[in-house]
Amino acid sequence: MSIRTLIRGGLVITAADELHADVLVEDGRVAALAAHGSAAAEAWTADRTIDASGKYVIPGGVDAHTHMELPFGGTAASDTFETGTRAAAWGGTTTIVDFAVQSMGQALRQGLDTWYDKADGKCSIDYAFHMILSDVNEGTLKEMDHLIGEGVTSFKLFMAYPGVFYSDDGQILRAMQRASGNGGLIMMHAENGIAIDVLVEQALARGETDPRHHGEVRKVVLEAEATHRAIQLARVAGSPLYVVHVSADEAVAELAAARDKGLPVFGETCPQYLFLSTDNLEEPDFQGAKYVCSTPLRPREHQAALWRGLRTNDLQVVSTDHCPFCFRGQKELGRGDFSKIPNGLPGVENRMDLLHQAVLDGHISRRRWIEIACASPARMFGLYPQKGTIAPGSDADIVLYDPHAEQVISAETHHMNVDYSAYEGKRITGRVDTVLSRGELVIDRRAYTGRAGHGVFIPRSTCQYL
Ligand code: URP
Ligand code: ZN
Ligand code: ZN
Ligand code: ZN
Repeated sequence: MSIRTLIRGGLVITAADELHADVLVEDGRVAALAAHGSAAAEAWTADRTIDASGKYVIPGGVDAHTHMELPFGGTAASDTFETGTRAAAWGGTTTIVDFAVQSMGQALRQGLDTWYDKADGKCSIDYAFHMILSDVNEGTLKEMDHLIGEGVTSFKLFMAYPGVFYSDDGQILRAMQRASGNGGLIMMHAENGIAIDVLVEQALARGETDPRHHGEVRKVVLEAEATHRAIQLARVAGSPLYVVHVSADEAVAELAAARDKGLPVFGETCPQYLFLSTDNLEEPDFQGAKYVCSTPLRPREHQAALWRGLRTNDLQVVSTDHCPFCFRGQKELGRGDFSKIPNGLPGVENRMDLLHQAVLDGHISRRRWIEIACASPARMFGLYPQKGTIAPGSDADIVLYDPHAEQVISAETHHMNVDYSAYEGKRITGRVDTVLSRGELVIDRRAYTGRAGHGVFIPRSTCQYL
């Protein structure tokens, strides 16, 4: 049975337009938009009318970088697909692209099937997968083609974490060559992990064990160098490249220089690099462990280059890299040895709000907010226009956003399954009011009305920027 929903009186914001329009939803899709009070809009009838006056009507967020339940550093990320997608919905995100992991010695198939099982029947919002390649060999290269056929069209490689996820330059080149032929998008964790491991060992030998040393050994120049090297390898292979979690000004400069040459090179940053800094890593009493992630937080001066990159489109996407570990019992594993602190920050619930605050703070425009958080990640990863916009035929993944509501971010009130917030006490103007996923109410005026299992796997096409 088809429910017709009418969203009346809001300001519809997409990456392309701002329209004072009503939105008609039918069969889980956007059926039509028409100006407030127009003859077309006045003629519409519906089973349910949602009053959006005073609110923004925006596409649901697309978070293209999450790690639900990721096994890491002898523990696992604390959000399951159930808790993590519910929290995402609370924060106005209606699609996540999570990373399925190939373990060393495993086929891609095994890793991907494990992730299908983890997510199946658990998600409140739709989801898709990237594939992490930990073991590049003839077999896995062939498997890339099959995965693209089933809608898993992007592959993350690591220049960091030797012995875990690390690939050497030869393996990276082979994967890129494969991607240049099959349309896959190579995503790169660009840090020189071999050099970093030497610096880690030397720091620990000097007795430098606190969380702040995590930031010191993972040097800016080792992110910039790896970014440069990844770009050159992609040039040799003739493949596109997407650099994940860009944190440093010199890394942005490498991307900008490549793009100025016309190379198909893309970059993502995350709210933690835009709003947090090494000041957080230096918090006393081991509190800095809450902010340990890789690439690491940088001195505050780097933020200007990231914001500029987002404005100039040298960076196209803001994702969260949501990879939560509780302080108690998980981050604490690294007391006395920063290299044993599980890497990752929570944030899937906070991204849309933090970026709205960035609009108010003058960093980006309202439409750019929607572009970097919804439309551009959808295009980058082959989900557009099903996701990332509000247009006839698009999935009715729609957020009613109250731009005037005041909130204070806190672990006391968030919905992520983690015992701290990286943004504790931060004041935000703006808040998610109501969320629809394929036309179904998931959040209804600040109450959760969704259900585990509503969210489905979305097969993706290849990158739509190429
Ligand atoms: O610290 C991070 N980013 N943890 C998640 C794994 C990754 O490298 O993205
Ligand atoms: Zn209006
Ligand atoms: Zn990474
Ligand atoms: Zn990640």
